[in-house]
Amino acid sequence: MTLYSDLLHSLIHAFPNSVSSRDFSKEFNCSERDYLEAFRSLADKNYPVERKHDAFYLRVPMVSEEKLISLTRFLKTDFSYVVKEAVPSTNTFALNHFSSLKEGSVILTHHQTKGKGRLGRQWSSAIGKSVALSIVLSPSINPRSLPLITQLTAAALCKSLKKYGDAKIKWPNDILLNGKKTAGILIESQFQGNQFQGLVIGVGINSNLDSEDFDEALLQKASSIKMETHRVVDPNELIADFLTRFDHYYCEWLETHNSLPFISVCKKESVLLGKEITVFSPNQPSRQAIVKNINEQGELMVQYHDQNVVTPLQSLDFSVRSRNGYS
Ligand code: BTN
Repeated sequence: MTLYSDLLHSLIHAFPNSVSSRDFSKEFNCSERDYLEAFRSLADKNYPVERKHDAFYLRVPMVSEEKLISLTRFLKTDFSYVVKEAVPSTNTFALNHFSSLKEGSVILTHHQTKGKGRLGRQWSSAIGKSVALSIVLSPSINPRSLPLITQLTAAALCKSLKKYGDAKIKWPNDILLNGKKTAGILIESQFQGNQFQGLVIGVGINSNLDSEDFDEALLQKASSIKMETHRVVDPNELIADFLTRFDHYYCEWLETHNSLPFISVCKKESVLLGKEITVFSPNQPSRQAIVKNINEQGELMVQYHDQNVVTPLQSLDFSVRSRNGYS
């Protein structure tokens, strides 16, 4: 490990306290100059670090394996944590190492450099200020149920964000806080030939981002928990709360195959139900529809204006028309 990794771990461990140059140099047997250089490396990489006299501290709490273990030790799923300093994408890491990762592994990173969003979009995460995690699971289910797991995850995530404001779900995978996108879900599956091996549930949460961390254009539509509450959130408590709710819905669903407990949350918190939408499909003219339901398979049921029947939405490319935004 390099010295700046050691300093980062010490700062995470010490939060909210600082790490003095004397204590650090003694523990890691380095000079004060080495310590300063390690600090500069972290600051140059944009970690949320701050200096006060001869000590350094983190402006916001960061993901800590020890805290997560302690906060989730009583759950049914045997979650274990792999915290990487930086990876292109936690989902890609989980898929690439799928066969060697334990059931219930949760991959986390302080710095996701090439995060993936749905429909091939990018997902950007500010260093140390956002949550990027991927859960590795191999349930014996039909891969056709995967859309249902997106809804299960959305229900758990939405409930976790409720304590920070008006959390809602924009089917299938966006979580809005006070009308702005604050978290997203990307589920990917692992196959060997035709054989379904398991899935990776990717979750990104804008936890402690500031407005400067967003592109100007994105600020109209996206936000963070810190921006909405004007308070710093502990990512470990947030992740543990989400995993607790996820564990509850997931274990119950595996046992009963009843999706209603989480689908009813998705319906209650949906910003799309009853709304007019415009559906775009490749090589076809766009069509207007009204959203009628989210069914027990997690599908969005719509009625096109030129049809009398209610059908599942075929295209995932749609926009919402509503006079009051999502409300
Ligand atoms: C979306 O809203 O389009 C989905 C965003 C999902 C982002 C998360 S961050 C952790 C995991 N790793 C990725 O590369 N993507 C997901």
